[in-house]
This record gives sequence, structure tokens and C-alpha cells, in this order.
Amino acid sequence: MTATKGRILTGHRPTGPRHIGHLVGTLEQWAKMQDDYECYFLIADLHVLTTDYEHPERIQENIVNVVADWLAAGIDPAKATLVRQSALAQHAQLSQLFGMMTTVARLERVPTYKDQIQNLGLNPSLGLLAYPVLQSADILVYKANLVPVGEDQMPHIELTREVARRFNTLYGETFPEPGGLLTKTARLPGVDNRTMHSSYNNAIRFIESEEETTKKVMSMYTDPTRLRATDPGTVEGNPVFEYHDVFNPNKDEVEDFKARYREGKVGDVEVKKSLAVALNNYLRPIRERRTEFLKDPAKVVKILDEGTEKARPLVEATFDEVMRKMGLR
Ligand code: TRP
Repeated sequence: MTATKGRILTGHRPTGPRHIGHLVGTLEQWAKMQDDYECYFLIADLHVLTTDYEHPERIQENIVNVVADWLAAGIDPAKATLVRQSALAQHAQLSQLFGMMTTVARLERVPTYKDQIQNLGLNPSLGLLAYPVLQSADILVYKANLVPVGEDQMPHIELTREVARRFNTLYGETFPEPGGLLTKTARLPGVDNRTMHSSYNNAIRFIESEEETTKKVMSMYTDPTRLRATDPGTVEGNPVFEYHDVFNPNKDEVEDFKARYREGKVGDVEVKKSLAVALNNYLRPIRERRTEFLKDPAKVVKILDEGTEKARPLVEATFDEVMRKMGLR
């Protein structure tokens, strides 16, 4: 852990096993940054409850799965600190204090909130409205400078910057204004070309077998207007080719497929078979490490709990400073 380039806080909600969207969207980038930054990776279990508080029996199992998938993807507890959000009360406490200086109107304009009440037909709870306030607390309680996330999270980083500015103006310089950092890989679509989402069954997950992955790839959405292998096909925006671009290391083969696809000289089956092989090759070492870690789930939990204790003095210090500056101590 070297602090040379600054401090990172980022995380996932433990919603279930990780998939290739998480891998190329965030995890590969996190793994690379561990050498140059002081990294905190958060299991945001409180955030799960903003929409899914009726299934307490799933949470601990999901946490073990997510941590094992992180470790499998190269997150290294010797370099980075893994943290369980709910075990450090300062996250929730700081969120409550930030809630005092954040208007309801501002939170109602957050796009993820608007989407969610529209898509899920939810009658929004106070907790859901305050989701990005808790996320601001997650980030600022570490005084993080950088937050590598997928593009959907950018509105939350923007709010975090506003909270930091407002706090600093009111109570004196305390928090850095953290920057968001996007991955180069754009968001991967699911195998059905909708947003990749665990609950849509359209994600390729670490946990699944090579056979399962192959089956999903073989029935993947392609160019819907192409009825025969001899019809000219569209490559742009075609998820099969988006996946090839990311996961197939044989770029000549990919270019050849694209050219022949455009001309109607290759069938979907051939292109998909090659993709299934590439994807399984890509995921094999990750899957092997995952299986290895899960031979001892208690050890996985221990890694998370030890990281949490390592982080405790830092979040206590920030919270104490905030309490004093706000006149509560
Ligand atoms: N909202 C993030 C997600 O759903 C998870 C998260 C919670 C997070 N707290 C965070 C991400 C702080 C970055 C920083 O992916």
C-alpha cells in the first residue's frame, strides 16, 4: 500500500455473484490501481437495503460471494483494505450529518433515483432518496481523492463533490473534492442486449460453468434483421462483437469475423462459438481462484473483517473532526 498517488474509496453493493460487467466495468481497473494508490474497497451492505430489505437471509451469503469474486479478480488484501460498510457506524452517522445540508429537491433530481422509481415502480423510501448521501459519506469519511466507478455512478460522485464543497465552506477546509474515474471499456450490454443485471439472467457470471457460459453465448442477441448467414450483418452495436472486442485476444480473427459478417460470409454460430471459447479462456483463471477461495468461506469473511478493523481508526478520526466542526463535541 503506497500513498504516492492518493487515496481511493470505491465499492460494490453485495447483490450476488459478480459478472463480466463488474469485471471490465470496475474490478480490472481496481486491481491495477492497488499498486499506486492507497485503496479502500467497500462492501456496501447498507446500500443493499435501500431496495432489498425483505431478504435478510441472502445478505451474508452474497457478501461472501462478492468478496471471493473480488479476490479472484485480483483484489489483494496485502495491498488494499476491504471494508464492511455496516460494521463501521461512522458511515451511517456521517450520512445523517450530511443529510442536514442536502436538500430533498437536490436528491429528487438524481438520475439513478428517478430511473429507479420509474423502472421498479417503487414508492420511494427515505433510505432510497438518501442513497447518494450515504455514498458521499462512504467516500468522504476516508477523505478519498479518487473514486473509480462505472458511468452510472457519476451523478453520485457529483453530489459527493457538492457535499464536500458545502461542508468546507460552512465549517472550514476538511474534505478533498474527490474525482470520479471511468474505465476505458464502455458499459457491456447483457447477452439479450439489455443492461447487464444479475436479476435479468443476462449476465455471464464468474460462478457459472463453462457449459453455462457457452449456452448463453450461443443464444446471444445479435443483429435481429439478419435472417440467414448470407445476409449482410451489422457489427456496430452488436453485443457479440462488443464482447469479441473485449475478450478475444486474437484481434486478426475479430477483424476477419467483422469483415465477413458485414458481407454475409460468416454464420452467427461460428462467430459465437469462437466467442464462447475466448470468454471461457478469459474467465478460467478467475473461476479457478474463486473456487479455491471458497473452499474456506470463513477465511474470506476474515479478510473482510480484518480490513474493516484496519480502516476503523481512519473513519473514527474523520468522524470526530466532523463532530467537532459541527459543534457536537
Ligand atoms: N453505489 C455503488 C454501486 O451500486 C456502490 C457504492 C456504495 C459505492 N458506496 C460507494 C461506490 C462509494 C463508490 C464509492 O455500484
